[in-house]
Amino acid sequence: MPKAFVAGHPIKHSRSPLIHGHWLKEYGLEGSYERIDVAPVDFGEFLRSFPTQGFAGGNVTIPHKEAAFAGVDRRTAQAERVKAVNTLWIEDGVLRGDNTDVAGFMAHLDASLGTGWEQDVDTALVIGAGGAARAVVAGLQDRPLKRILVTNRTLAKAEDLVRDLRPGSRVGLETSAWEALGRVIPHARLIVNTTSLGMAGQPPLTLDLSRAPRDAAVADIVYVPLETPLLAAAKAQGLRTVDGLGMLLHQAVPGFARWFGVRPEVTPALRALILADIEGRR
Ligand code: ATR
Repeated sequence: MPKAFVAGHPIKHSRSPLIHGHWLKEYGLEGSYERIDVAPVDFGEFLRSFPTQGFAGGNVTIPHKEAAFAGVDRRTAQAERVKAVNTLWIEDGVLRGDNTDVAGFMAHLDASLGTGWEQDVDTALVIGAGGAARAVVAGLQDRPLKRILVTNRTLAKAEDLVRDLRPGSRVGLETSAWEALGRVIPHARLIVNTTSLGMAGQPPLTLDLSRAPRDAAVADIVYVPLETPLLAAAKAQGLRTVDGLGMLLHQAVPGFARWFGVRPEVTPALRALILADIEGRR
């Protein structure tokens, strides 16, 4: 019976057990997916010993994604780009790591906007320069866009991101000053918030979307609340919106497929289950 885990610190609030538990039931699979609280000092030991505890692999979350990146034997190209690992498995006796936030973000973007959406997008604007921004930029870089602009309150972090991700990029990658957002928005047909602004308890991200192209799409990776002030403002302007919940659901797909041997689907029932949890209805 395959076993998988999510390891983090703290780990109580992770929704991954709910997602994987739903799929195990849905596909009638024998298996388990459990939360494990691993303190930072114990993570190195955990990384080496989980196979002997009967685990096929698992997810890692805050604060272990960078330590997992450093500790695995082999990484996927996506993990290399993001410099963080969130999914672990053993293949041919080798400890491997992937960053499935990249595929998760892109899968949800494709599902929400329809395949081929890139045809109308010349410039994408990514707001933020943390780990989530790296995953978003890494995903967008594989698409036929002309340029990606990265803006961040702390410009130096955006510059670091661009320097790291520019080599080999088919898409032009540039930084843009936070103060210049107003000038950039009229050119951006895709706008992505990767900052924590708009999350419950945080101030909103307020952008002047009145001058955004009429066919622009606005994506937010924040999913509590599901409709962030940014997405509400985009809707009010008649723009297309992409919520943050889909990324959470889609990033779980590759791990489940590796540990349990079935590629699961992100369905409306799964979405409703997680949404009910977020809204405290379960
Ligand atoms: P994650 O890994 O989820 O991306 P992170 O690495 O802590 O988290 O990044 C958080 C992002 O939100 C950063 O881009 C951060 O901007 P700074 O680099 O300037 O800190 C952004 N952020 C957080 N609070 C913000 C605020 N009040 N205003 C603007 N940006 C903010």
